[in-house]
Amino acid sequence: MKKVILASGNPGKVREIGEMLKALGIEVVPQSEFHVPEAEETGTTFVENAIIKARNAAQHTGLPAIADDSGIEVDALNGAPGVYSARYSGPNADDETNNRKMLDELKDVAEQDRTARYQAVLVYMSHAGDPTPLISQGSWEGRILDTPRGVNGFGYDPIFYVPEHDCSSAELSPKDKNTLSHRGKALHQLVALLQKEKN
Ligand code: IMP
Repeated sequence: MKKVILASGNPGKVREIGEMLKALGIEVVPQSEFHVPEAEETGTTFVENAIIKARNAAQHTGLPAIADDSGIEVDALNGAPGVYSARYSGPNADDETNNRKMLDELKDVAEQDRTARYQAVLVYMSHAGDPTPLISQGSWEGRILDTPRGVNGFGYDPIFYVPEHDCSSAELSPKDKNTLSHRGKALHQLVALLQKEKN
């Protein structure tokens, strides 16, 4: 099995990405196993931040690396919080304060104008200086609810309405969410790119 570092400590992401890449003979190892220090996400695009994280992991381990960067864009907020989704409510932000801030900002916005989408970018770098990283992207369209619903998932899931299933993304099973989600779509694309490169 070829080892690839995942520039994330999120156990859910490690499991999900690991399962899909196993079929390609790739073993996904979280960067924490190599004590890789967190990279500062100084980019203004998802692509830049994913490259920063993948390059950092490859640099510290000498191994190929995968990183993802994601966020939510709300049309009534002109695309905010976008790449700043994790830090939306300030330096001590957590999921609850972020959701509360978003509901507050949108309190006077009518249902039909509360359109939003999740975005995810995945990057694979074969080494820290790789000038042609593999890049994939996925998005997921929905709407911001006016009250939280459901307990699954993380982040903005309790307030993200999924029209196809008439529920919030926190009310979906993890399996259903992975099939529909921005990250699931980006991951499928990355698998196809890696497969192509292998052949
Ligand atoms: P990161 O890509 O792990 O830095 O995540 C960026 C932020 O975007 C997260 O902290 C969440 O606030 C938000 N986010 C990204 N993907 C999701 C998702 O699938 N559900 C809910 N929130 C998400």
